[in-house]
Amino acid sequence: MATAPTAEEQIEKLREDIRHHEYLYYVLDAPEITDAQYDAIMNTLKKLEAEHPNLITSDSPTQRVGGKPREGFAKVAHSRPMLSLDNAYNEEELRAWDQRVRAGLPASDTVQYVCELKLDGLSMALQYSPGANGTSQLERGLTRGDGTTGEDVTTNVRTIRSVPLSVSTKKLSAAKLPASFEVRGEVVLPQAAFLKMNEERVAQGMAPAANPRNAAAGTIRTLEPNIVAQRRLDLYGYFLLREGETFLPSHSQTLDALKTSGFRVNPHTKTVKTIDGVLDFITKAEPLRETLGYEIDGVVIKVDSTAQQRRLGFTGKAPRWAIAYKFAARAAVTRLEDVHFQVGRTGKVTPVAVLVPVLIGGTTVTRATLHNADEIARLGVKIGDFVQVERGGDVIPKIVEVVEDKQHPRGKTEIVFPAVCPICGSELMRVEGEVDWRCVNNSCPARVREELLHWAARSVMNIEGLGDAMVAQLLGQSASFNGDTEAVTEEGAPIATRKPVIHTIADLYRLKREDLLGLERVGEKTADALLGQIDRSKNAGLARVLLGLGIRFVGERTGQLLAQHFGSMKALREASAEELEAVNEVGPKVAQAIVEFFAVEKNLQLIDDLESLGLNMTAEKKVVGTTLEGLTFVLTGTLPDLTRDEAKEKIEAAGGKVSGSVSKKTSFVVAGEDAGSKLDKAQALGVKVLDEAGLLELLKG
Ligand code: IVH
Repeated sequence: MATAPTAEEQIEKLREDIRHHEYLYYVLDAPEITDAQYDAIMNTLKKLEAEHPNLITSDSPTQRVGGKPREGFAKVAHSRPMLSLDNAYNEEELRAWDQRVRAGLPASDTVQYVCELKLDGLSMALQYSPGANGTSQLERGLTRGDGTTGEDVTTNVRTIRSVPLSVSTKKLSAAKLPASFEVRGEVVLPQAAFLKMNEERVAQGMAPAANPRNAAAGTIRTLEPNIVAQRRLDLYGYFLLREGETFLPSHSQTLDALKTSGFRVNPHTKTVKTIDGVLDFITKAEPLRETLGYEIDGVVIKVDSTAQQRRLGFTGKAPRWAIAYKFAARAAVTRLEDVHFQVGRTGKVTPVAVLVPVLIGGTTVTRATLHNADEIARLGVKIGDFVQVERGGDVIPKIVEVVEDKQHPRGKTEIVFPAVCPICGSELMRVEGEVDWRCVNNSCPARVREELLHWAARSVMNIEGLGDAMVAQLLGQSASFNGDTEAVTEEGAPIATRKPVIHTIADLYRLKREDLLGLERVGEKTADALLGQIDRSKNAGLARVLLGLGIRFVGERTGQLLAQHFGSMKALREASAEELEAVNEVGPKVAQAIVEFFAVEKNLQLIDDLESLGLNMTAEKKVVGTTLEGLTFVLTGTLPDLTRDEAKEKIEAAGGKVSGSVSKKTSFVVAGEDAGSKLDKAQALGVKVLDEAGLLELLKG
């Protein structure tokens, strides 16, 4: 008779299952079960572990987020120095390197190169050592540090889901790995996570991180593993060492072994036989930059054979057998012509640099942010100066430094920060301890305009057609009056150039067809489309309304948590600071800001108006249905009405799962206009394809 499995056996089985599904999801991007199913397995494991705490091991998937490092990060010596790479900036330099490689090897040798993307993150060493039952366990994660000594950031590295906490004996032997080994690779922060992080930072009154690399580096050195876990860092492996040495016969075999043992390896990798093959790879890689979803700044080329690598050896700081080809920098030198002062939704005054137009990475840049008065002082910049301007991924161009040499003489005109709002003329205020100057006039036309634009934004109420030009027309303003040349006078005043049609957000919901038809270049079609969009936005729900109101520190996530917790605007309005703090992730600062917001008569009036105009001020219940339980969807192309986020929300609310890539396990591909390779793949695999109407039909059950 078979005996029932022991708790220990059950726990081990659950862990194996979870590791397998994490690997499918985070490393291969090809999940086979729904999030709900994954959560269910995880919860069973948590429960069993809680009943048998003596069976908890550090490599259990429940233990990714552990305690905080107590006193910063310990310094630890690397098994072998983490070197840097020499750079090549053009074809000539690359060909010269190829010649040097060949000259350093016997004439009879054939050479093979491996081309990889140069990921713009930070390098990391992961040390694995023997664990229980012949497995290997992640023992330590070290930053590069000074190359010889790194910082022990293990607690944070453990939260990266594409980093295995342990490697099974099966995988070790399939990949021919010893139980003690080291993986080196690059930690990157995907652009989406970067933008989200910056949105939250700005909502919380902090300065945005300059680029994903800095954000990734900052995140990995955060003393709060919880925060690191939320940020969704990723790790791509590129070296495998045993006792500090490469031990497989070739780099391509190393990459295969990394894959086999469960590490994420960048898919854009190619083995080529000639330098022309390398150049071809580079030509194809550069345009990828705009589509990958993470930053790259070049291509790394490595001699494939380990024996040849040994023969070529190292110069002082870099291997002779590898080189980094750097893409043309997305930076340029240009002249600062003027500085305008732009007033934001919260009244914050931002200095905007007006530049002599310059082409950076295929985009003409004419403006850059100077952030605040402190930043101007830090740069020591004057009007007329030549400045180095950088453009990263999705980041607003930024002035990095003043350039000064024979060709670039210094400018002479001091930048004077205004004492009054450049738009409405009210006095500017600066809260003690904060860097920003603010216009505190709630009715400042610039603020009203930014409020409306924020309200209409995609991630907020998503009112299509209510962009810059339309908002300006509705408010009777010139399209370019805030922070732009023509309209800003010394007195700061061309406030309304025509009679305004609306004054507040609520007025949007009172708009009539005739109001719109009276505007320039607005025909019946445009008017009806806009009214339709405005009407539709009434159902966006409480979380989005909260986001739209622009309560300080309340970003997307906090908005959702508040909406889910209180369920209605009425309940939220009446909540005390104490009750607010009972919400997960809401601290005293946020609670205070919310209480203050609801203490302002004008805000309450707006909310009442919106409610009486038919806006839904309740939260959708978290679980709406389970009609799509067990089904996996992939979204591609542009849908006629729903944004991706909305479609995803709907699918998930009905118990379905949305994945990024099509596989045989995909239940449906929802395709809109300009659907690309995902649609082709669905058709090739025989996966069912739906349009938006089909999806909505399915959602009805
Ligand atoms: S190999 C001997 N491969 O670039 C050190 N590095 O400029 C060789 N990097 O410190 C590292 N992608 O942080 C290698 N596919 C890749 C890379 C890569 C990004 C970074 C890495 C390194 C820096 C050197």
